[in-house]
Amino acid sequence: MGSRIVATGRATPRTIITNQDLERRMDTSDEWVRTRTGIERRHVLTAGESLVEIAATAANSALARAGMKAAALDAIVVGTVSSDFGFPSFACQLQHRLGINTIPAFDVAAACSGFVFALSVADTSMRAGEYERVLVIGADALSTMVDWNDRATAVLFGDGAGAAVLVNEKGDRGVLGSLLRSSGEYWDLLYVRNRGIQTTMDAEARRVNEDAIRMKGPELFKIAVKSMEDVSRKVAARAHVALDEIALIVPHQANLRIINAVAQRLGLGADKVFTNVDRYGNTSAASVPIALDEALEANRIRENDLVMLNACGGGLTWGANLIRW
Ligand code: ACO
Repeated sequence: MGSRIVATGRATPRTIITNQDLERRMDTSDEWVRTRTGIERRHVLTAGESLVEIAATAANSALARAGMKAAALDAIVVGTVSSDFGFPSFACQLQHRLGINTIPAFDVAAACSGFVFALSVADTSMRAGEYERVLVIGADALSTMVDWNDRATAVLFGDGAGAAVLVNEKGDRGVLGSLLRSSGEYWDLLYVRNRGIQTTMDAEARRVNEDAIRMKGPELFKIAVKSMEDVSRKVAARAHVALDEIALIVPHQANLRIINAVAQRLGLGADKVFTNVDRYGNTSAASVPIALDEALEANRIRENDLVMLNACGGGLTWGANLIRW
């Protein structure tokens, strides 16, 4: 028995911030952001909006496409670092919002690798026979954690949620395997102290800089490229799959230059890599499932295709999932 993604969904906050909007707020330029990152615009949470609500919209969309009621789920696993509360978990808040009770609901905290980690956790539990129908979510709102005066980080992040419905199934299709890695040694390349002060970009109150996201961009860039290449090669080798058999890679959308460098090292052309970082920025754990949902909508994935998801994020954490669609 294994797990197969039978449907996906996505949702984003209403407000879109373009690079031109950022030019008016800080000392940056559309040209700099586009050429260094590939980002043109991003959705950001504003005052009064709730990320749990956005995740519920993504979940309901995936459930509707799966033809499944929320009540049929056996578990909810959420990749996130953006809960409004230390506890309860984001997953418990989402469970309540979806109107289901008593099934296990829990968060997996792996920053930008959150969805890849959550999918692996769900898949291995399902292989062990624990659950038959699982909702896996990636949801984050890192725009609420940046210092909107810090051009080095404020231009990079956007908010949103992506969802996948997994069912337990016999056969060749589904998640073939995952490989997860972490290295706490590099914790200070990307971190945020706590969510004590959550501030949407339109709020009056400004976060003190010490509480905002801190990042060592160039160091992170190099490790992200190497680690995503390494884990992608290994997860494929473990499944006895040659890299040129892969139909599509759906990578974490942090930076177009990172995505292109990883693809180049893996020897894969642009036609085998899905990107939407231009329209979303880095949505952390939401990035892979939002991209996966768009790739499916654009018919970039067909039945029996080999699809690889990969990501790298704060922790550091990195990982990949290999799927026979
Ligand atoms: N607008 C204009 N200029 C800027 C901006 C900005 N928004 N940000 C930085 N600069 C300036 C810097 O001050 C610096 O100026 P200087 O040369 O006068 O000192 C210059 O641009 C170059 O800065 P670098 O940081 O060296 O630029 P780099 O080419 O490395 O790009 C970036 C920075 C985009 C952050 C890159 O390092 C990167 O993408 N790193 C990975 C970070 C990342 O993706 N983090 C997300 C989570 S981790 C992950 O998902 C993998």
